[in-house]
Amino acid sequence: MDEILHAPGFLGTNANFAADVTLLVMLTTAVLFSVGFYLARKESFDAHKWVQTGGALINLIMVLWLMVLPFRDFVVRDSGGPREGIFYIVTSIHALTGLSATIFGLFVVLRGHKLMSRFLSFNNYKPYMRLAYGLYIAATALGVLVYYVWFVVTSAPPTYG
Ligand code: HEM
Repeated sequence: MDEILHAPGFLGTNANFAADVTLLVMLTTAVLFSVGFYLARKESFDAHKWVQTGGALINLIMVLWLMVLPFRDFVVRDSGGPREGIFYIVTSIHALTGLSATIFGLFVVLRGHKLMSRFLSFNNYKPYMRLAYGLYIAATALGVLVYYVWFVVTSAPPTYG
């Protein structure tokens, strides 16, 4: 499995296969969240709920599987570094925004399925959902920037093996 993930990517940058797939999956998830947003505006609340739940779960799997480890290895442990300052700045801002989006998004999903304790519950959904959507889109846009800095700009692209 690692051999496939660490093989060269297909987008013509210094990225490996895993990073190219991550980029495409995260962009697709952002489109999915936008479709879900549109469904809420159309008052198709049940479809909206399931589309956003799917998006939040795909997001969680991708973050835990393909982002947390490179963050630990290339930012915290600085493997293959030091690199240009922009590398650490952009990635850290992205990680902070992404972490907030992931936690807050899951919180809204749990609330949507009435699985949240009454203590943490809220009734006026709209501002919470809009904030969660905004954070996901901001994290995706920053993720595209991370990809660009990591695999196009930096002189020592982070690679495994
Ligand atoms: C809503 C949450 C998040 C979204 C939408 C998101 C989106 C993205 C996107 C689109 C990329 C570019 C694809 C790539 O380079 O692989 C990326 C890369 C990356 N993200 Fe995130 N991200 C999120 C959360 C996080 C978190 C919480 C962390 C830190 C623990 C993180 C760390 C990284 C790192 C290190 C990369 C480069 C990984 C690599 O290419 O090997 N992301 N992210």
